Amino acid sequence: MSQKIVLENVGKKYGAFQALRNINLTVGQGEKLVVCGPSGSGKSTMIRCINGLEKHDSGRIIVKGTVIESERDAIAARREVGMVFQSFNLFPHLTIIKNLMLAQRLVRKKDKRSAHETAMKYLERVRIADQANKYPIQLSGGQQQRVAIARALCMNPEVMLFDEPTSALDPEMISEVLEVMTDLAKGGMTMVCVTHEMGFARSMADKIVFMDKGEIVETSSPEDFFTNPKSARAQLFLGQILKH
Ligand SMILES: Nc1ncnc2c1ncn2[C@@H]1O[C@H](COP(=O)(O)OP(=O)(O)OP(=O)(O)O)[C@@H](O)[C@H]1O
Ligand SMILES: [Mg+2]
Repeated sequence: MSQKIVLENVGKKYGAFQALRNINLTVGQGEKLVVCGPSGSGKSTMIRCINGLEKHDSGRIIVKGTVIESERDAIAARREVGMVFQSFNLFPHLTIIKNLMLAQRLVRKKDKRSAHETAMKYLERVRIADQANKYPIQLSGGQQQRVAIARALCMNPEVMLFDEPTSALDPEMISEVLEVMTDLAKGGMTMVCVTHEMGFARSMADKIVFMDKGEIVETSSPEDFFTNPKSARAQLFLGQILKH
């Protein structure tokens, strides 16, 4: 399997605080990786390092065969990697369609017509094309998150990173976002998802990575992780999360 993302002994400090330690990870083409673990364990830091939003300070990160060394490499990597955050980060002063066209125009230098066409294609894919001319505030949280996913897809990324995309949503909106993510997964997208949606993890993940205190404590198949977690820390975490 060709590797889209490789992390080798990656470490990251914020000042004196070691946020990531000795992270080793591979994500192959079409693979779905779910990352979970307690708050503060380094999940966001790890995926922010993958798309160059944070700079790691030891080890190597390789995105699509390129070792990320300079800011320039990080920018290039970011073009291959779509990212969806917990807070949707849409521009409030732009309509949905304009939110989707902006980066295509600025980064991909597309003309208006082709950017518009691509935007509508992905709005349809996340089943929200009828909202194209509204402003973000006029949409529900679940709809805004689907827009954020469509916006990332407009850049034609090789890999999609999700950082707790449903954790700010009301329960009835979580499933509409998970449906879109499931569609994407089934369509063959390479995905790294930080999520505590264990139903999604169990049905869609090829691999589950459990982090604690900046380290990967275990990497397992979903079946093993849920039925037979190896570490005491993962057992405790699962006990807590599955209670809810
Ligand atoms: N910019 C920063 N400056 C200093 N410390 C930071 C910064 N960002 C994160 N940290 C610290 O690094 C650790 C890992 O944070 P991170 O956000 O990666 O955790 P997380 O696993 O995503 O947690 P959560 O589940 O709450 O989102 C935490 O202890 C956090 O306080
Ligand atoms: Mg986080």
